Amino acid sequence: MSPVGKPKSHESAVAHVSGTAVYTDDQRQPAGMLSLYPVLSPHARARITKLDVAPAMAVAGCVTVLTAADVPGENNTGVIVPDEVLLPTDEISYYGQVVAWAVGEDEAAAREGAAKIVVEYEPLPAIKTVKEAIAAHSYQDAPQVIRRGDPDAAIAEAEHTFKGEIEIGGQDHFYLETQVSWAIPDGEGNLQLYTSTQHPTETQEIVARILGLPKNRVVCTCLRMGGGFGGKESQSNPFAAAAALATYKTGRPARCRLRRHHDMLITGKRHGFLGEYEVGFTSDGTLTAMKVVLTADGGWSLDLSPPVLGRAMLHVDNAYYVPNLVVEGHIAKTHRVSNTAYRGFGGPQGMIVIEEVVDRIARTLNLPPDVVRDRNFYHGEGDTNRTHYDQDIVDNRIARVWQEAKVNANYDVRQTEIAAFNETSLYSKRGLAITPVKFGISFNKVTYNQAGALVLIYTDGSIQLNHGGTEMGQGLHTKMIQVAAKALGVTSDRLRMMPTSTDKVPNTSATAASSGSDLNGQAVKNACEILRDRLAAVAVHMLNLDAPEDMVFEDDWIYCRTYPSARIAFDEVVQQAYSERISLSATGFYRTPNIFWDAKLGKGRPFYYFAYGAAVCEVEVDGFTGTFKLRQVDIVHDVGESLNPLVDKGQIEGAFVQGMGWLTMEELVWDAEGRLRTFAPSTYKIPTISEVPEQFTVHLLERAAQDGVIYGSKAVGEPPFMLAIAVREAIRAAVAAFGNANYVPLALPATPEATLWAIEAVKATVGQGQLVEL
Ligand code: MTE
Ligand code: MOS
Repeated sequence: MSPVGKPKSHESAVAHVSGTAVYTDDQRQPAGMLSLYPVLSPHARARITKLDVAPAMAVAGCVTVLTAADVPGENNTGVIVPDEVLLPTDEISYYGQVVAWAVGEDEAAAREGAAKIVVEYEPLPAIKTVKEAIAAHSYQDAPQVIRRGDPDAAIAEAEHTFKGEIEIGGQDHFYLETQVSWAIPDGEGNLQLYTSTQHPTETQEIVARILGLPKNRVVCTCLRMGGGFGGKESQSNPFAAAAALATYKTGRPARCRLRRHHDMLITGKRHGFLGEYEVGFTSDGTLTAMKVVLTADGGWSLDLSPPVLGRAMLHVDNAYYVPNLVVEGHIAKTHRVSNTAYRGFGGPQGMIVIEEVVDRIARTLNLPPDVVRDRNFYHGEGDTNRTHYDQDIVDNRIARVWQEAKVNANYDVRQTEIAAFNETSLYSKRGLAITPVKFGISFNKVTYNQAGALVLIYTDGSIQLNHGGTEMGQGLHTKMIQVAAKALGVTSDRLRMMPTSTDKVPNTSATAASSGSDLNGQAVKNACEILRDRLAAVAVHMLNLDAPEDMVFEDDWIYCRTYPSARIAFDEVVQQAYSERISLSATGFYRTPNIFWDAKLGKGRPFYYFAYGAAVCEVEVDGFTGTFKLRQVDIVHDVGESLNPLVDKGQIEGAFVQGMGWLTMEELVWDAEGRLRTFAPSTYKIPTISEVPEQFTVHLLERAAQDGVIYGSKAVGEPPFMLAIAVREAIRAAVAAFGNANYVPLALPATPEATLWAIEAVKATVGQGQLVEL
């Protein structure tokens, strides 16, 4: 029985819940390991006028202090452009920036040392918001534009038009395990790093760059992460570099691990965006033209902002055909944390704009939002099934997920019931909404769509499995074990998944863009098939047969398809192969075929395929407090032929809840001085178990195998995040029921406060005699 497609639990599930899973900071600590503690800037922007580390050196146990002057290589952790200092030389660029690291025998000594470091500043004027950046023309990178048709002409001719803007908030990653890195020297000028990172290869590169070493002297290993969510794609690097720098300076092992409030203050988050739009549409609600300007809050340095913005621009259509569309993208340079990857990678910010637009069209025309959505879907052939960047949607499953979700949720009947409830309920109102997701799979940068694997079979038949992907809870390792077990026809208990390490599989891409199992799965399969071919040749001899291509590998046995009764154990063949001097290890490789992208034209086929989903959500909003209760969620999601339905459902549920957090409760508040005020769970609210609805069904689309992807599966990590847009739209529907407004402006996130304001606005539009008094 093939393990692929089985609902196997996460390979570390028991270790996770029993607390025995080893994370970077839980490993056996090398003797003499030092600890780092940061000194943070108290200003959004300032000049450093004095930096005196001498008082720290008087603290018992404080070994040294790291400042910019200690960097032997390049003082730069930038991943696309070299604009990011590891430690500042003269100017501070955001509140919370690390000015220096104290290094102590233990964390307490380092902390005391850090407190003694004297830094004086001359505050400088700072750009604190996206709107301030726009006013000051403070941008990073050149604007990007994607255009189809003639939106200006189409808007001029349109039956109806409107303009608007939407301010989209950021989001803290709130991974359970904060950023952490250990650096261990070998005494011969080489370094071993243990880092909680989604991108060990890049961590290796940045550490090498900071220390001025060739990459081959640095090995970066990631055991597993306690969550990454994009926040450990590039943002782990500076902490690995700081630990490495301490090791370089002292010759001793050193560790850098952040406290929660430091992590929240120092690291970049999901980009906040300003979305400005102008649209044209017909009386039946069909979009004819849309102009969108997206401005991402890049923060103080570029980090991954260009591809995040790019993905937002490629998802501003979501599932809708807009014949005339132009989207222009900018990256604002502000004095804030450097914003970064976060589940969806800009896709959610792009999609929310058109979902806002479509809903507004529906309310303007007094049509049901689900009808207007349906009317605008990509459908048919030719142009109506082609995106604004010219990619044909060959496997369009929007209508399928949409219809199934509606039927499963009993949408039409419940809509009628809710209308009746709202007639009689004055102080609380219910809302029902359905929204679609179409999400492109592949890294926008074609080069990153490659992966490697290394599979080692030992003479006792046990196997070590290495691949370039990292495990952050998403179940990648579980799926890779399933893939290898199937490809080698062995039981999964003989497979040991090794920590991800740059000395096993080099030059890897980040585990990101949801493509971990697509890419690494193919590489693992490739390596296993190479080994299998070698073993098949040996087995054929052992069984006195002559056609190695007919050999079947199954359940630890090897046999010929035509004579299944004559079979031989996998172990025996392995031993025979060894004695015949046949290699029992192999590397595997994969690159995604048939994708290309012309950045200048904004056209191409950037995605290998799309993932689809639809969510139906029902909420009840309390008119006195603005709070909502999520009553029911029904999701239909397309994961192709699931590699592991249990893991996939977990991903869908988790992504949905995380998306709901972004849209309804997680609010980042910066004050007038540009200081982040929400840097702890006391002020920054993420969803908890009590926000998860009791009625929550996740249905995987059936008969959905995806051609050309590992065993017919599809990527699942990010796409369901955007299903949570249905929660926001359901809140909007409930708010609308407090009056009869034809536009319901609802701020993001839709916190109780924002929802109350929206209710106020809606009530103000209600005509005389219909006023709903609270
Ligand atoms: N699931 C868990 N439990 N923890 C995580 O950190 N990260 C998400 C998603 N699911 C994440 C997660 C993000 S941002 C991505 S890109 C994918 O997992 C990455 O893994 P994959 O490519 O193997 O799906
Ligand atoms: Mo995910 S944001 O691509 O790490």
